[in-house]
Amino acid sequence: MKYSERVQSLLDALTLEEKASLLAGASIWHTVPVERLGIPAIKVTDGPNGARGDSLFGSGKGAACLPSGIALASTWNPALVEEVGQVLGEEALSKGARVLLAPTVNIHRSPLNGRNFECYSEDPYLAARMAVAYIKGVQSRQVGTSVKHFAGNNSEFERNTISSEIGERALREIYLSAFEAAVREAGSWTVMSSYNKINGTFSSENPWLLTGILKDEWAFEGAVMSDWFGTHSTAPALNAGLDLEMPGPTQWRGQKLVQAVHNGEVTQDAATQAAGRILHLIERVGAFDHPDIPEEADIDLPAHREVARRAAAEAIVLLKNHDNMLPLDPGKLRSVAIIGPNAKTAQIMGGGSARVNAHYAITPFDGITAQLGPGVKVGYEIGCTNHKYTPLIPLSNLSTSRDRTDHGLTITYYNSPDLSGEPVWQTTLLSTETVWLGEIGHGVSMRAFSARISGFFTPDESGPHTISLVSSGICRLLVDGAELIDNWTSQNKGDAFMGAGSGEKTADLTLTAGTPVALTIEYSAQGAGFLSGVRLGAMPLLPQDAIDRAARLAAQSDVALVFVGSTGEWESEGADRPDMELVGKQADLIHAVASANPRTVVVVQTGSPITMPWLSEPAAVLEAWFPGQECGNAIADVLFGKVDASGRLPQTFPKRLQDNPAYINYPGENGKVVYGEGIFIGYRYYDKKDIAPLFTFGFGLSYTTFEYSNLRLNKTSMASGDTLQATVDIRNTGPRPGSDVVQLYVHDLESSLARPEKELKGFVKVPLQPGETRPVSFNLDRRALAFWDDAEHRWAAEAGEFQALVGRSAGEIVLSARFELTDTVRFDGPGREVSRLSMQSTIKDLLADDSARALLDEHIPGFSGNPQLGFTSGLSLEQVAGFDAQTFNEHTLQAIKSGLDDLNARR
Ligand code: BGC
Repeated sequence: MKYSERVQSLLDALTLEEKASLLAGASIWHTVPVERLGIPAIKVTDGPNGARGDSLFGSGKGAACLPSGIALASTWNPALVEEVGQVLGEEALSKGARVLLAPTVNIHRSPLNGRNFECYSEDPYLAARMAVAYIKGVQSRQVGTSVKHFAGNNSEFERNTISSEIGERALREIYLSAFEAAVREAGSWTVMSSYNKINGTFSSENPWLLTGILKDEWAFEGAVMSDWFGTHSTAPALNAGLDLEMPGPTQWRGQKLVQAVHNGEVTQDAATQAAGRILHLIERVGAFDHPDIPEEADIDLPAHREVARRAAAEAIVLLKNHDNMLPLDPGKLRSVAIIGPNAKTAQIMGGGSARVNAHYAITPFDGITAQLGPGVKVGYEIGCTNHKYTPLIPLSNLSTSRDRTDHGLTITYYNSPDLSGEPVWQTTLLSTETVWLGEIGHGVSMRAFSARISGFFTPDESGPHTISLVSSGICRLLVDGAELIDNWTSQNKGDAFMGAGSGEKTADLTLTAGTPVALTIEYSAQGAGFLSGVRLGAMPLLPQDAIDRAARLAAQSDVALVFVGSTGEWESEGADRPDMELVGKQADLIHAVASANPRTVVVVQTGSPITMPWLSEPAAVLEAWFPGQECGNAIADVLFGKVDASGRLPQTFPKRLQDNPAYINYPGENGKVVYGEGIFIGYRYYDKKDIAPLFTFGFGLSYTTFEYSNLRLNKTSMASGDTLQATVDIRNTGPRPGSDVVQLYVHDLESSLARPEKELKGFVKVPLQPGETRPVSFNLDRRALAFWDDAEHRWAAEAGEFQALVGRSAGEIVLSARFELTDTVRFDGPGREVSRLSMQSTIKDLLADDSARALLDEHIPGFSGNPQLGFTSGLSLEQVAGFDAQTFNEHTLQAIKSGLDDLNARR
């Protein structure tokens, strides 16, 4: 790679030790500075739906919480996702961070994946469009993205060790596509390798993946970092192309790397190349000129709120609307029943590293009541619960002293495993959940500490309560001095704290409203993995007749709105979901309420598909996902029709888990998960097998109706070098303004390899006034027609007949047109092609080659049309520098680019 003069001169000045120091983090969120040469440290931050800053999950300075990945993809609106990216770029800067650890572009394979919510889609084209828009938005603010997790991280099962066994065709067509677009089109400044292995080799030390594909073929100019604690070696990882070990302090680099260079296991050049990429990143984010890392700020901007609300509302998918029951007219309602476990708890985000400390979270109850007139009678019943862990105790019910003068709990740390010895540090906690990762500071030893957390809990209600403990590490709970829960000498198996923790242990306790009880948690980090933590929950037991009460309320109301779904505990990094059902008694609740009132609307909030055996019962159903801080406002905007229901499913909802193509090969065994379904995932599988899902990919109703007509192609036969344009007219035939998502799929009618019935290759979200008609166009090129040929290891677009299919979803194709590809073409990614062509040693030779010229024009607009090419034509590409084989392609392109820059400068 060719660097700027500044980077090159720094590289020349760095010692081997200094280079090695740049190649690992300094701390959990920072890189290492080299003060001698004025090289600053930079800070990175999670994550996809907000910029958390350097705190741990869910704590820390307030941050804007935007919709999660599956919700963003549900908007099918790249322009809006780009705006979300801009907000997130600004949010990252407010936390002093220069790299946002996002977006997560892994493909939805199984509905059970714990991180399904964070990812965009089962379809590589939709995921790629979202990734490109998001990255452009973030990077427009001079904040780098770290597209993750590269690659094959499609489940949380044994995520740190499992080998994803994926054929090259499925990798190329499905699992790598969004990464490819993120790198080649959007130019992501960093890439994060995944925890898992790919076909037996850890991603973080996989040369085929990190160098062959990413750096050579896609000409990636950024830095590759490992997922946190996902580096497993010194020489293999560096040689494979892993530039940055995260987090720090280093386990595998530093002196070990210096030694590896001395031993000849790593070349000087490889270490220099990796250091160059880190310096290039520091330069790109502007840190050489602005080296300070500002204090984290909590900035809640109206403009960010507005984007968050718009994106959350556009993401909502209307799944059912019997007799056009929705939208509701708030002026005509006299009474509303608001029911369900998600009504007064805003489920704004999934769990794990995606958590932020949101500026605020609007509950559905608050969002809806804010839009109802003053005369409307509102009733509320929870009906049932849906938590995995007993909810945390609200801060307002906690105090450090019995007289309740201040809120919180006191924590005292000891540098011993059993609370013996002198206290090392004491501070106040503002939550009953605490997580420790990285350094704690204040002299506390992260590896071997214990702590006593103490204070008072004053309940709001009298009666039986459930109280609970979960931990990574060991702990016990004492109430008024007596041990109530022992999670110290024995634990239930579980997966709290991103897979590092125990299961929950609960006990019953009878409490009196307003009377404080003394709580003491004794905690020890013994046995904790990479992350230590403890969590205390308490809540009053629900009455036995909670569901009946909800049904009675529904029967007395004009309309019943039921808020069900899941939580960031069930859908979290570190563990997959156990099944595809609604948790607990929620299905019974829906059944009881819908039986009591035919005007029942169910609002589901999940980050993944669920089964809906009750679908025929309520009049209307919406999927609102984990929509971020504007949750309740956005839901109310759609329920009351301020905003059309314009979200479309980015993932098929199968009728049952067994129908899912990954079912047989999930979650994996003996350390491997075989992607036996190959390219046939999502609708590609349901189509092929003719299995009717509950809701098809791309499905979603609107409050108005649309008509598609006049599908026309600009040509009916195309050569592989051409672009074909398909145009269709779309008309709003209903009474309200609304937006539809016109989807274009391609069907290859004859092919030498098995292909899906159709594949998404274009979509446009079109807002239309009643009666308005608009033409919508799509372009198809050879890549849109191609499959990956495993035997040839190249893309292949085969001559023959194709169909352009236009529809509202994968299950509703409305129009189709045939066309022919007149020649068969096999082609590579650009890097490999340049590599092949570079054997033709001079630019003059390259220009004589048609496909080389086309390729160069693609990379360097106007290249072959340049009248002064004589200037560069004598340049021998082979002689450009002392390239090694791995970096040759980048150098080649770079040399051509520099030649042209030079030329332009002389004009
Ligand atoms: C996650 C990453 C995240 C990193 C830092 C890991 O556990 O897999 O997505 O960016 O932690 O929090």
